[in-house]
Amino acid sequence: MTAANAATRSVIGVDIGGTGIKGATVDLDTGELTVARVRVLTPEPSTPDAVAAVVADVLDQVGADGPVGLTLPSVVTGGVVRTAANIDPGWIGVNAVDLFGHATGRTVGVVNDADAAGIAEVRFGAGAGRRGVIIVVTLGTGIGSGLFVDGKLVPNTELGHLHLPHGHPHHGDAEDFAADSARERDGLTWEEYAHRLQQYLELLQSLFWPDLIIIGGGISKKADKYLPHITLDTEVVPASLQNDAGIVGAAMFAPIS
Ligand code: BGC
Repeated sequence: MTAANAATRSVIGVDIGGTGIKGATVDLDTGELTVARVRVLTPEPSTPDAVAAVVADVLDQVGADGPVGLTLPSVVTGGVVRTAANIDPGWIGVNAVDLFGHATGRTVGVVNDADAAGIAEVRFGAGAGRRGVIIVVTLGTGIGSGLFVDGKLVPNTELGHLHLPHGHPHHGDAEDFAADSARERDGLTWEEYAHRLQQYLELLQSLFWPDLIIIGGGISKKADKYLPHITLDTEVVPASLQNDAGIVGAAMFAPIS
């Protein structure tokens, strides 16, 4: 590969989370960050204009030109934000591609955060080289999901909002029961939390019969605490890119001409 080619394959990914907005340049051939990542606190409230201003600041600090891919913890169709479960409700209906494009003066792509983390894991991480049906589940404030069939993403699946089966004592979204934030909120031991996760993963298994489930999100690096308590027919593995998956996956959605 020539130097010019190499340059066009390195684009910027920005991962917008509930607590931090993280960005870096990413080598799209290897899935590696090519600069140290920049992290700025997510503004409170996380309104569209406030977040766009911080994104512009993050890009200034990253200091590279070129197209940008960004994540949001929302359903995004045609660049428009459709849901806001764990972000300011003012995002709903906003054309995020226009917003970030104007705020940064760059061409941008916007994608759901779990779809981004998932595609990075499937291309470069725990799902690399695997075919069949893979579900990447991110456990954090909410539960995000990325569904892949032979490496191809089915976007915006929102499997954290599934409900546990009829008769289950928990009513409402599974993410309020089995996200990492539920573990913290309810002061659960890892074993107690694993018991909840087991029930959620059984639900996913019974509906999708995936070949592989990858557990992502900040909790993936503590897999030794809960995975030994999980027993499922489906193979379950921790994500391997951990904190960088969102940035890498975001960069994979940067519009490159
Ligand atoms: C949102 C998803 C998001 C997930 C993880 C859920 O509450 O609905 O869009 O991927 O949280 O942030």
